[in-house]
Amino acid sequence: MTETVHVPLEGRAYDVRIGSDLLGRAGAEIAPLLKRPRVAIVTDLHVAELHLAALTAALKVDGIEAVSLTLPAGESTKGWTQFERTVEWLLEQKVERRDVVVALGGGVIGDLVGFAAAVLRRGVRFVQIPTSLLAQVDSSVGGKTGINAPQGKNLIGAFHQPSLVLADISVLNSLPDRDFLAGYGEVVKYGLLGDAAFFDWQDANAARIRVRDPEALAYAVKRSVEMKAEIVVRDETEQGDRALLNLGHTFCHAFEAATGYSDRLLHGEGVAIGCALAFELSARLGLCSQEDPSRVREMLSAMGMKVRLADIPGDLPDAQTLLDLMGQDKKVIDGQLRFIMARGIGQAFVTSDVPSETVLTLLQDALSER
Ligand code: GLY
Repeated sequence: MTETVHVPLEGRAYDVRIGSDLLGRAGAEIAPLLKRPRVAIVTDLHVAELHLAALTAALKVDGIEAVSLTLPAGESTKGWTQFERTVEWLLEQKVERRDVVVALGGGVIGDLVGFAAAVLRRGVRFVQIPTSLLAQVDSSVGGKTGINAPQGKNLIGAFHQPSLVLADISVLNSLPDRDFLAGYGEVVKYGLLGDAAFFDWQDANAARIRVRDPEALAYAVKRSVEMKAEIVVRDETEQGDRALLNLGHTFCHAFEAATGYSDRLLHGEGVAIGCALAFELSARLGLCSQEDPSRVREMLSAMGMKVRLADIPGDLPDAQTLLDLMGQDKKVIDGQLRFIMARGIGQAFVTSDVPSETVLTLLQDALSER
């Protein structure tokens, strides 16, 4: 069964389709968008090996011809070199303004290809086919596209909404456990930021999620996408509420920088640890009960996810250095760090009113558990 979440942005509305075997039905799903039966697919080597043949075969069934470009896999692809290569390849393929580009892959491919589509001939339409859990519940929806700069992650980019997102739950079966659980960190984030009942559902269904039960996964992806869509429609360009989607991310970005963006810490793992710390900080500030951070930690542990700084292998810098790294976050405005805090599970809000000393003590305590 396929579920649809509609993203009703005026003039740029689109559907996110969620279900099993969407890859196999990609031709029928994409055909209504096409002015001529031809698409350009951009993917990475790892995803190409697993899913490119299935996608091109599915397009062919509906008479859609596909050309494809396969980029190297990994975060280092998300920079000027592969971006330039992609844009030039799309031009060589004579992709026109009325055509559609397809991004087949995880967050790196979705962000890079979306940005290429945003600037190619001043904007062509694109379809996201996210193949990681993180991309299905977060990066493929909402139109943030871009690449990394030597100065930091995601510093070059544009808001460019996709015309369609096809989230095929069955492709999640090919994910290694670690990537799957990292992506689940973003799912947990949605319950924590705005839907206590969704958090309770996650708690009750941990065992089903761990074995990747398709029905449970489809619900987890659908509810996450619904929540993201609601927030994006309220605040597409992050002037206010969209910052709620960054729950746990200020901590996470500091830990990612401290571990050199290496595989010592995957983004979603940092989000999970960051969410646990954001709740601990909220409790220490008297915003929520002490029971809430305990519940968050218990749920993450039950899923086998990273929860504490002790779960990050290797050395970490001291608390002051971590705090300084938090200060380099994109959410700093006029030198003031904005935090996403919570009044309880499902009740997050944005505030600048967090004393640095409290954060420093929290980080010192978290480091001392190592
Ligand atoms: N990943 C956060 C956002 O889309 O705003």
